[in-house]
Amino acid sequence: MSVRRRVGVLISGRGSNMMALVEAAKAPDYPAKIVLVLSNKPEAAGLAWARANGVPAQAIDAKPFGPDRRAHERALDAALREAGVEVVALAGYMRVLTPWFVDAWAGRMINIHPSLLPLYPGLHTHARAIAAGDAEAGCTVHLVTQGVDEGPVLAQACVPILAGDDEDVLAARVLEVEHKLYPEALAEFCRA
Ligand code: GRF
Repeated sequence: MSVRRRVGVLISGRGSNMMALVEAAKAPDYPAKIVLVLSNKPEAAGLAWARANGVPAQAIDAKPFGPDRRAHERALDAALREAGVEVVALAGYMRVLTPWFVDAWAGRMINIHPSLLPLYPGLHTHARAIAAGDAEAGCTVHLVTQGVDEGPVLAQACVPILAGDDEDVLAARVLEVEHKLYPEALAEFCRA
């Protein structure tokens, strides 16, 4: 089998997309190996799950760094490099990255966003799609560039918005397709 790309996943909470990536990477022909999970929040539920599944996981708490975002990111960057990470996958990482970090990983960092970009960058994507009367919602995997949720689109998946949907119901429907799309998109990215 060809060499697997070494992937680091950044989370802030639940980590269900990270779990989907780790599960997918258990397949013998998957072109990536999740070698490190990092969280900016020590209480992130995904950290314990990662460790229980044999993936090194570390919290690098942003709080002690105060407003020095760059210093926090230097610590993230050092941990990623120490682990030999080649590709960074953001999976519910809830801090906006500085241009320094984005540049350091340019072309090697991807994100999953719960909307059909370029529609609804930022937060509250599902509520905004419902309020707009959209017939479809979905998720996007994209390359990370300086503008938040603005990088080139790598893959998208759609779900219908049904009468009576509220934000939570729609979020759950989208999340289900996120868990399929992200492993597929990461695999394609790593094979390219
Ligand atoms: C997902 O909806 C993802 O698209 C967005 O944040 C959420 C993270 O969920 N970026 P999880 O932590 O992966 O469960």
